[in-house]
Amino acid sequence: MQEKNAPDAWNEGGETGAKGASALGAMTSEGLAKLHLRSEVFFNPHMRLCRDLSSLWVGALPALPSLLDGFCASGARGLRYKLENKNVGHVAFVDAQPAAVELAEENAKLNGLAPDAFRVMRADINRLLGVGERFDLIEIDPFGTPVPYLASLMRCGSGMDERFVSITATDTAVLCGAHAQACYKGYAARPLHSEIGHEAGLRILLGAIARAAAAEDWSLEPQLCVSHRHYFKVMARLVKGAEGAVETAKTAMSYITHCPHCLYHHMDGFPTPICAWCGQHTQWGGPVWGGDWVDKACVERMQRLAPNRPYLSKEAGGLLAAISAEADGPTLYYDLHELASRHRRVIPASERIIEKLQSMGFFASRTHFSASAIRTDATLGDILDKMEKR
Ligand SMILES: C[S@@+](CC[C@H](N)C(=O)[O-])C[C@H]1O[C@@H](n2cnc3c(N)ncnc32)[C@H](O)[C@@H]1O
Ligand SMILES: [Zn+2]
Repeated sequence: MQEKNAPDAWNEGGETGAKGASALGAMTSEGLAKLHLRSEVFFNPHMRLCRDLSSLWVGALPALPSLLDGFCASGARGLRYKLENKNVGHVAFVDAQPAAVELAEENAKLNGLAPDAFRVMRADINRLLGVGERFDLIEIDPFGTPVPYLASLMRCGSGMDERFVSITATDTAVLCGAHAQACYKGYAARPLHSEIGHEAGLRILLGAIARAAAAEDWSLEPQLCVSHRHYFKVMARLVKGAEGAVETAKTAMSYITHCPHCLYHHMDGFPTPICAWCGQHTQWGGPVWGGDWVDKACVERMQRLAPNRPYLSKEAGGLLAAISAEADGPTLYYDLHELASRHRRVIPASERIIEKLQSMGFFASRTHFSASAIRTDATLGDILDKMEKR
């Protein structure tokens, strides 16, 4: 293990920390946290952007007297949430792996956390959530799917009126339709292996979270969801109450109809077997979350905090701006490359077609789900009219 003050060992910026992660006893820094790393404890520097955004979101929330970093590994998330945000009180770090627990403890001390400001526990998260302790925010950052933890996540919080959850899913291949059987089994939903698979996948994940929430009388209010690289991140508020829970459950019963022939799509309370655009047979996905996946006011609060965080990755601001721009748009997007190929059109510059549609009075924006797609309330016909024929 290197000395904690050895300056050459610091690796500012995170991305190159991958090398450090494989070297026993390497050190890095990310955001305001200094981190000892160990080869046997998981640390993915490519998740820096995700941690940047989650920590910014935490800062945009009301006071959080008690926070649980449920799959803490090195403690990177819980440490950043605490060090970067004045509204965070006590942090509990939990991991099932003994080496992770040791490392999180070491890192909490390295960053000068007061002994009464944190505790580190070796535990299985489902067991810990079962003992009835209250946390204002729970971070769920597992390997792969969060499904095995949703029931216990929703069962806890007894006596609370509201709380917050931050959930990662890295099984995007399953949610986006590359492994349909695993999606049926884990999420009880049919994925769409298509150009809209990412939004459909996020909505399948939100649907599963919503059903687990509703079963325990919580309503789900997604505040920010992110689709990036190999993961989805859901940051959401839970509000206690049977009436809201019913609405949440109903919102999680939507279906996406997608035509593999002309690429027309829509979301509704039921799938439709024949395409309303071209008359051919459709495919469908769901059940999915049919509600909002972003709360624009929350994103704006985050955007106001961002300039005071010089350590944020460059991408964070751009991603937030993109999400804010599409937040008022309709459900699902159209991929211009796929439309061009299917309908014999020239691939247009996204900005040009967005401007044209906006000048006709339609909503039109890019979408953070895909660099080649646009979100618009124009009809498929209106979009194709604006694309030059080949
Ligand atoms: C993806 S890593 C967490 C990464 C970490 N949050 C970060 O940002 O660097 C998942 C961690 O969860 C731990 N883990 C796996 N199953 C667990 C369980 N049932 N309860 C608690 N921790 C668990 C693993 O030991 C591992 O350290
Ligand atoms: Zn069609």
